[in-house]
Amino acid sequence: MRAVVAGRLESSRVQSGTAAAGDHALSSGGAANGAFADRVIAWQRLHGRHDLPWQNTRDPYRIWLSEIMLQQTQVAAVIGYYQRFLDRFPDLQALATGAADEVMRLWSGLGYYSRARNLHRAAGIIVDECKGEFPATQADLMRLPGIGRSTAAAVAAFAFGQRAAILDGNVKRVFARYFGIEGYPGLPAVEAVLWERAEALLPKRGLEPYTQGLMDLGATLCTRTRPRCPACPLAADCVAQVHGRTAELPHKRPRKPLPRRSCVMLVMQYRGQVLLERRPPAGIWGGLLCLPQADDLAAARNLAETLGADWHGHTALGEIEHGFTHYHLTIRPVSLSQPASSAKNVAREPRYSWMPLLQALDAGLPSPVRKLLLALEKTLNKSLECRLSNGRPL
Ligand code: ADE
Repeated sequence: MRAVVAGRLESSRVQSGTAAAGDHALSSGGAANGAFADRVIAWQRLHGRHDLPWQNTRDPYRIWLSEIMLQQTQVAAVIGYYQRFLDRFPDLQALATGAADEVMRLWSGLGYYSRARNLHRAAGIIVDECKGEFPATQADLMRLPGIGRSTAAAVAAFAFGQRAAILDGNVKRVFARYFGIEGYPGLPAVEAVLWERAEALLPKRGLEPYTQGLMDLGATLCTRTRPRCPACPLAADCVAQVHGRTAELPHKRPRKPLPRRSCVMLVMQYRGQVLLERRPPAGIWGGLLCLPQADDLAAARNLAETLGADWHGHTALGEIEHGFTHYHLTIRPVSLSQPASSAKNVAREPRYSWMPLLQALDAGLPSPVRKLLLALEKTLNKSLECRLSNGRPL
């Protein structure tokens, strides 16, 4: 356990999956907590973010949408998606009655697509089962798909002024450093300690600037690498800062190397169109449009032939590497052209559709598929330019 300085510079250790209380008990409120929250609130008012597109509103729909988009995703990446989504689905009713395809299209590129599917489902539930009345407590919000304890707390705090504790990845980092909490924060035992801290520190007043302040501190000062401790209102008694352990805390995930997988994707073309396949709703890229895919070249050949393409004319394109949280995928794309005689048969199967390349690029695609189709579009444009500049007929 670590040193105790001024009664609060202390650290907890969590060992072998069980949460040890450490050599200090959780502070039980009072002056010390007040001081922590007061400092966060004062700092937020002066230095925090006040003009993000989801701030300065109490509209639970807008706040909920922002909190879902911000799960595991940085503000800068979210802003454009958020605005485009709201232009198309300005309120709960519009989202609940909107087409799943359109929801996925607007989410395309933001990643973690189950968030979009759950958002759409949850909108339907609120409209159908709650008569359009947004659940207003953390507990009720947590009953909706895709809303965990921290997201529910953020929506409850920002939309309904409720007193509820958040604990997203950034806030875990702030607490792990400030209290010197040992262990990987994703471990349930470590997370339990962090939740205790989060609950115990909640101020009686100023809940919204406090909540926003924790988020802002985590995102702008207490960053994973190169934290800006001299500007931090918590630095004076932050365990990690005082003991020079900011690089070490929070502890990293104990890493096994990610398993590697590979697949072959078929880029089948017919008169300027590509063949797309709608993925089943569950699983990786669930519900998104993809290229037909097989586990290896032999299976890809079978698939291509089943789809009526001539495998002999295939060309291997450059590989694409894509990282998922649980494995690493190498995509081996293969380009084929489709004889007119079989093109129509393929599209009879409802999960397949031919789509003009530009329209496909506008649809809900996983990012490696989009990358692949963008490269294809560039190549096609180049060869068109070449033909034109050589005066060759098209
Ligand atoms: N991350 C999660 N929620 C956020 C919010 N409301 N503002 C900024 N960053 C966030």
